[in-house]
Amino acid sequence: MSTDQDLRKQISVRGIAQVENVANIKKDFNRHLHFSLIKDRNVATPRDYFFALADTVRDHLVSRWIRTQQYYYEHDPKRVYYLSLEFYMGRTLSNTMLSLGIQATVDEALYQLGLNIEELEEIEEDAGLGNGGLGRLAACFLDSMATLGIPAYGYGLRYEYGIFKQLIRDGWQVEEPDDWLRFGNPWEKARPEYMLPVNFFGRVVKDENNQSKWIDTTVVFAMPYDTPIPGFRNNIVNSLRLWSAKAENHFHLKFFNDGDYVQAVMDRNLTENITRVLYPNDNIFSGKELRLKQQYFLVAATLQDIIRRFKSSKYGVREAVRIDFDTFPEKVAIQINDTHPSIGIAELMRLLIDVEGLSYDRAWKITVNTFGYTNHTLLPEALERWPVSLLGNMLPRHLEIIYEINQKFLDEVGKKYPKDFDRLRRMSIVEEDGEKRINMAHLAIVGSHVTNGVAALHSRLLVETTFKDFAEFFPGRFQNKTNGITPRRWLMLCNSPLADLITSKIGEAWISDLSKLVELKKFDHDQDFLNSLEEIKGDHKLRVADFIKEEYDITINPNSMYDVHVKRLHEYKRQLLNALHVITLYNRIKADPSAKIVPRTIMFGGKAAPGYHMAKQIIKLINSVATVVNNDPIVGDKLKVVFIENYRVSLAEKITPAADLSEQISTAGTEASGTGNMKFMLNGALTIGTMDGANVEMAEEMGLDNIFIFGMRVEDVNELHAKGYDPKDFISKNKELAQIVEQIDTGFFTPDQPDLLKDVAAALHTNDRFAVCADYESFIKKQDEVSQVYLDRPKWLKMCLHNIASSGKFSTDRTISDYATEIWGITPNEIRLQPPYETPHAEEEKK
Ligand code: IMP
Repeated sequence: MSTDQDLRKQISVRGIAQVENVANIKKDFNRHLHFSLIKDRNVATPRDYFFALADTVRDHLVSRWIRTQQYYYEHDPKRVYYLSLEFYMGRTLSNTMLSLGIQATVDEALYQLGLNIEELEEIEEDAGLGNGGLGRLAACFLDSMATLGIPAYGYGLRYEYGIFKQLIRDGWQVEEPDDWLRFGNPWEKARPEYMLPVNFFGRVVKDENNQSKWIDTTVVFAMPYDTPIPGFRNNIVNSLRLWSAKAENHFHLKFFNDGDYVQAVMDRNLTENITRVLYPNDNIFSGKELRLKQQYFLVAATLQDIIRRFKSSKYGVREAVRIDFDTFPEKVAIQINDTHPSIGIAELMRLLIDVEGLSYDRAWKITVNTFGYTNHTLLPEALERWPVSLLGNMLPRHLEIIYEINQKFLDEVGKKYPKDFDRLRRMSIVEEDGEKRINMAHLAIVGSHVTNGVAALHSRLLVETTFKDFAEFFPGRFQNKTNGITPRRWLMLCNSPLADLITSKIGEAWISDLSKLVELKKFDHDQDFLNSLEEIKGDHKLRVADFIKEEYDITINPNSMYDVHVKRLHEYKRQLLNALHVITLYNRIKADPSAKIVPRTIMFGGKAAPGYHMAKQIIKLINSVATVVNNDPIVGDKLKVVFIENYRVSLAEKITPAADLSEQISTAGTEASGTGNMKFMLNGALTIGTMDGANVEMAEEMGLDNIFIFGMRVEDVNELHAKGYDPKDFISKNKELAQIVEQIDTGFFTPDQPDLLKDVAAALHTNDRFAVCADYESFIKKQDEVSQVYLDRPKWLKMCLHNIASSGKFSTDRTISDYATEIWGITPNEIRLQPPYETPHAEEEKK
C-alpha cells in the first residue's frame, strides 16, 4: 500500500479496525448465525449472513438505547414527538455501523470470515414506508434529532407493504407489492405488552352533566414496534415507534355454528387491513376512508402513549398528586408532518376534555401550545379536505369538537373583522360550498402555535397567498424552516471517498457542523484537489455505468455528462420538459450528424402514483424516446436515455454521487422545497433549475455563477396565467418545440401505436397547467450553456467545489436546531452520554 493510501485509510470515515474488536465481531457473528439463525456455514445463505451481521451490529445499540431512554426518565427533559404517516428510512445496516464508528472493524471481520460486506449490504430491503421527500425528510430529521441529543420520538405506522416496487414493462410502469417484511426485520422490536386500544365509529350521547360521551365504538388495537435511531457517535439512541393494527381478541360472542366462528376469525383481517399498505400518493389527496382510518389510528395510539409517558414522568408526578396538565406543553412538543396527522388536534382535545375532565378553554390552550404544523405543499389537489359525512361517521365526537373549535374561532375572527362574511367563509374549518368538508390545513393552523413552510419562498407564498387570511389573523404564527438532508447518509455513507477527501483538507468537524464546508472554498485554485474531485466523480460514474449495463443491458459512455432527473413523477416536477430537451438533442443530431455535441447520458427515475394517468403516460413517453434514441446508430454514444427502474432511497445513494447535472426544473411556485436538489449539491453535481423551492436558497448560498437558473419566476408565472396562457403561442414561435409536439402527437416515438401518447401532446398544446411550453426556450438555452461549461473542465470543477462548499446550510442538523429553538423550546446538544458499560465484550474492549 502506498503512503497516500495509508493516509486515506487512517482518515477514512470507515474508521480504523482494532484487532481485539475484530475478533469479537467474528465471535458474535458466528454466535448469531448459530443461535439466532440456526444455521451452519454449510447451509447458510447470503441472507442468513446478512441477518447474522445485522444482529451483531444491533447488539452494539442495545445498551446505548436502554441508557438513553433511562436518561430521559431520570432527567425528564422536554420531549419532541414527530408524527408522520411516512418514514422513508431506506437501509439501516451501514448507517448503524457509521453511527457507531465500527465500519472498518466489521469490514475486517467479514473479510477474515471470507464474506463480502458490500454484497451482504445489498441484501437488505429498503424500509420504503414513504413516497418521496416528505417521508425521507422525516427519516433525516430522526437522524439529526438523535445526533443533536434531542429527546425525540418518531411515531408512524408499520405498513406491511411499503411503496410499491416499480417495474418497467414495454415502457409502462407496472406495480408490484413491496413485501418488505417477508424475511423479517432485524431492526424492529415488537412490544405486544404495550398494545393500546383505538376506537372508531359509534355515536355520541350526553351524560347526566350534559357531557358528551362517545359510545358503541368498534375497537382496534395498536401494537407498537420500536426501531432504534442512533445519533452520530454520541451514544444516544432514540426510538421510532410504528403501530400495527391488531384485531381485538375477546369476541364474547356465542356463535351459532362453526361457520360464524370461522368467519369471525377471518374478519379479523379486515380490521388489520388498517396498516396493511402505504398509500402511494405524493402530493395528491385521495380522500379514501381507509386513509382517514390510518391517520386516526396513528394519532389515537400515539397520544395515549404520550400522555402515559407524561403522567409517569418525574415532573408530572412531582408537581402534584393530580397530574397538572397545564404543564403539558412545557414537557411535550408534537410536530405534525403535513396535515396527515392533524386529526390529532381534535383527539388531544377529546382526551383532555372527555377523559381527563378539563374545561374546553384549558384543553384548547394546552393543545395549541403543544402542536406545531409543517405545511408541505400549496398544490390544491394535495390539500386534505375530508367530507363531513365520512369523518362524522367514523369519528362522531371529533366532528363535534371540530365544529366547536370552528365556532369559537370564527367568533374571534368575526370580532376582529365585523360583517366580513366572505372572510369568515374563506377561513372556516368547515367548508360549506358543495359537499361539506373539513379543511384540515385550517384545523392545523388554528390548532397549533406555529405553522411553518419548508423553504423561504414556500413560506413566503403561504402567508401571501393560500393562508393570507390566517397570517393576518395570527401575526407571528407563521415561520420558515428550510428543509435539509443528513450529511451522514447523503455524504459519508453514499460517498465515502469524497467525505475522506474533505476530511483530509479541513478535518472532521464538518460532519456535525456542515457549515464548516465553506472552508473548502480556499482550495478552488488547488489543482490537485480539483483533480481528486474529478477522479472521485469518475469512479462513481464507472460504477453506475456497470450497474446500467448489468440491469438494462445499455452501454453508456462514462465520459458523457450524467444528466440526472430522479424524483417522483409529477406534472409539476416537469419530467416532460426534460423529455422535450432529450428530443431536441435527438432532432439536432439527426438534422446534422456531424455537428459537435457534448455527449450526455440522461437518466430519469421515479414512481408515478398508480392512478395518475398523465404521469404514467410521461413514463411511457420517456421510454419510447429512449428506445428510439438508444438504437439509432447515427446517435451512437452522443446521447443515451435511461429510465432507472424502481428509484428508491438505496438507489439514490448509488446515483447521487455519480451525477454531473441535477435537474430541479419544477414550475416556479410549485415545489415547496425539494431535498434531492440538496443531495446533488452536496455531492458536487451542478444544478439546472428554476427559482423554486430551496433552489432559491441554494443559488443564494453558492452565487448565481455556480448554478444554471432558467425560466419564469413565480411572479412571471402568475402574470402569464393572469393574462390568459395559451401554450400554442409559444409552440408556434419556436420551430424546435413545434416539431416535437408534432412528433409526439403523430406517434413518431410509438410508430406501432401512433395515437398512444396523444394525451401528452394535448396536454402540451391545450392544457399546459405547469407552463412547460412557456419555459421551453429558456430551458433549452440554459442546457446549451451547461454543455459549453462542461467542456471547460477547470471552470466546471471549480463550480462543483463551490457547490459542495456552499451546501452547509442544507444539513438537517441546521433545520432541526431551528425547529428546536424556534418552535419546540429545546436547546440542542445539551445531553452528553458516555459509552455504556455493558456493550458486548466491554471488558475486553477496555483492555
Ligand atoms: P417509555 O419511554 O415509557 O416508552 O419507556 C422506554 C424505556 O425507558 C423503557 O423501556 C425503560 O428502559 C426506560 N424507562 C421507563 N420507565 C423508566 C423509569 O421510571 N426510570 C428509568 N427508565 C425508565
